[in-house]
Amino acid sequence: PRKVIIDTDPGQDDAVAILLALASPQDIDLLGITAVAGNVPLDLTQKNARIVCELAGRPDVRVFAGCDAPLARKLVTAEHVHGKTGLDGPQMDDPTMPLQDQHAVDFIIETLRAESAGTVTLCPIGPLTNIATAFEKAPDIVSKVQEIVLMGGGFFEGGNITAAAEFNIYVDPEAAKIVLEAGVPTVMMPLDVTHKALTTKPRIDAFRAFDTKVGDMVAAWTDYFERFDMDKYGSQGAPLHDPCTIAYLIKPDLFQGRHINVEVETTSELTLGMTVADWWRVTDRAPNATFMKDIDAEGFYALLAERLTTL
Ligand code: BDR
Ligand code: CA
Repeated sequence: PRKVIIDTDPGQDDAVAILLALASPQDIDLLGITAVAGNVPLDLTQKNARIVCELAGRPDVRVFAGCDAPLARKLVTAEHVHGKTGLDGPQMDDPTMPLQDQHAVDFIIETLRAESAGTVTLCPIGPLTNIATAFEKAPDIVSKVQEIVLMGGGFFEGGNITAAAEFNIYVDPEAAKIVLEAGVPTVMMPLDVTHKALTTKPRIDAFRAFDTKVGDMVAAWTDYFERFDMDKYGSQGAPLHDPCTIAYLIKPDLFQGRHINVEVETTSELTLGMTVADWWRVTDRAPNATFMKDIDAEGFYALLAERLTTL
């Protein structure tokens, strides 16, 4: 199994991503979960990460709290999508498992220094503040990262927080720029992919049909999540963004994209946080990311069902 650190701001779709990782020990050795401010403030995202681990019966997973604000801007949150707690939908109890004392950024640095070079994958599914801070604080770790597989950006689909920008990149564009320019092999799951991974009613019903606590929670979360996007996507359901990254680690063949140059806009008022993807390779800028564009959505939901039912 691949050694992975999930960096996250749960978030219903983050929660499903964490569950998919925990349900896949044959593929993923989850070294720890690092929480970042994003969908909701840090005190809620770190708590939500622990709720999800306990739901999966894994109170032993180490959860670390990281940065509570973007590098250079005020935090923008998304309660309008995720609800006040960040995990609105089902009834949930407060977690009893502990939060680790160590700062998430220090955990990322220490882990990359301790493990052999090229054996740890970072999977950021929130704003990139923790990862960028770790790279700035400890430049020696950058070359040790095996791969970054992140959810963020969008090009053909436009944005979801502004007309041009996707939420994770928009919240901390300076951090995203640092990460994309770091020279680490990077896979991006943008809106162009996740808008094709819709939680249709039959797919939500399939989660509920597990007849397990995890199945009920995932159904309630995706039901809630869907409510926000319903008008946009009609009866088709809402995108389930973050689990695409974990699915890629398990079954990369579900996705198709191109290795191209992707730059982040950090100055324009109109397009702040936009990921400008040179899909047609019309510039001579060097490729720095595999920008995914297509997904086998049936295969993705089949994988989710197959794995989540084991929890
Ligand atoms: C991303 O933003 C968050 O609201 C989701 O959790 C996902 O990571 C989608 O734009
Ligand atoms: Ca997220």
